[in-house]
Amino acid sequence: MNQKSNAQLSKLRSQYISNGVGNVSLKFIESAQGAILRDVEGREYIDFAGGIGALSVGHSHPKVVEAIKKQAEKLTHTCFMVNPYEPAIELAEKLCKITPGAFAKKVVFLNSGSEAVENAVKIARYYTKRPAIVVFENAYHGRTQLTMTMTSKVKPYKFGFGPFAPEVYRMPFGDVLGADKLNDFFVKHVNPEAVAAVVVEPIQGEGGFIVPHANYFQELIKICHDNGILFVADEIQSGMGRTGKMFAMEHWSVEPDMITVAKSLAAGMPLAAVVGKAEIMDSVHPWGLGGTYGGNPVTCAAALAVLEVFETDQMLEKSIALGQKLRIRFEQLQKKFNMINEIRGLGAMLGFELVKGPNKEPATTEAKQLVDFCNDNGLVILACGSYGNIIRILAPFVITDDQLEKGLSIMEEGLVNILENEAI
Ligand SMILES: Cc1ncc(COP(=O)(O)O)c(C=O)c1O
Repeated sequence: MNQKSNAQLSKLRSQYISNGVGNVSLKFIESAQGAILRDVEGREYIDFAGGIGALSVGHSHPKVVEAIKKQAEKLTHTCFMVNPYEPAIELAEKLCKITPGAFAKKVVFLNSGSEAVENAVKIARYYTKRPAIVVFENAYHGRTQLTMTMTSKVKPYKFGFGPFAPEVYRMPFGDVLGADKLNDFFVKHVNPEAVAAVVVEPIQGEGGFIVPHANYFQELIKICHDNGILFVADEIQSGMGRTGKMFAMEHWSVEPDMITVAKSLAAGMPLAAVVGKAEIMDSVHPWGLGGTYGGNPVTCAAALAVLEVFETDQMLEKSIALGQKLRIRFEQLQKKFNMINEIRGLGAMLGFELVKGPNKEPATTEAKQLVDFCNDNGLVILACGSYGNIIRILAPFVITDDQLEKGLSIMEEGLVNILENEAI
């Protein structure tokens, strides 16, 4: 086969793909396995990004590939709303069992995380008959009109894309929720009786791997329920084992009214879900929810294989071990490099903050330099945070010790390189 080079494909990419779509790297990936990506020129990269946290079980896990193949040979699509099929039912049952909450639950399947959040809001509004939604500073919920409004960071997500959806109110995240602060919010921002739902990420992902204080979610859910407000956990990035528990809310024994799931659910196949209390999920009239592709049989088969792999290949244990190894190495790096300020996150959802100067200002440029250095030297890694200065790890749990160590040493080399080029 006459394989095009990265440069040739980049040229075609700028000719045919909208400029509005960004790229972390212009290495075109031809194949991937586990935690290794291979580009069209045969070069390998260690993957610390996992397709933005969508590949907990690793690239092309044999059991997932087999399930996809088998399902594709039998049935690829009917539209669940036209003719339903078993894989969706089986998966819905499993999701109801593995999500936190000792109550009857039901599921709606969608294609993307953004769509799942949108649908959770639709359901919350329908059930409560209230219009308002409360979200948080540094939140990320997606790129559709409503979820973009719910997202906090202006550039690149919101800049120039207004007008925004109405009835979205924003609170600071992770602060101690004293009665005074809350009363103040409900005096100055929104009437609590008008609020349908609080939508919150257990650990803010794109916002910078921010973990709130220990009792935060217990306090928040109590406030919600005292005011007839639904508590929706957006577990799209933190779920599916990423923090060492299947869902991050389990760390605080919190049982959300609804949970959104996507990303690692189907190992990169476009599948998302809202899982919620049966009474709430059932309140909507028939045909009020759905879509052509939501819960497509191939994606459901992939998700069922992912859940099986979680059991057979001890994915939660692997996630916990990965998180521990990362934390040890990050603490070593923190001692070595002044520019590493906070280590943030939980379990394998771990990152560190890069700062500079006596006032510890966000080292945004340096974070970008580090990401670029890594990409040029065989490691795919991502930054996040409102100032883009958090280096985050969303590696597949199946990454081997050698691959992890190699990736971390590329990162360390990158940090040395930045320090040599700039006195920080
Ligand atoms: C917490 C959270 N919610 C929602 C989304 C949006 O998901 P998608 O990109 O699949 O629409 C993301 C994606 O990064 C996310 O991290």
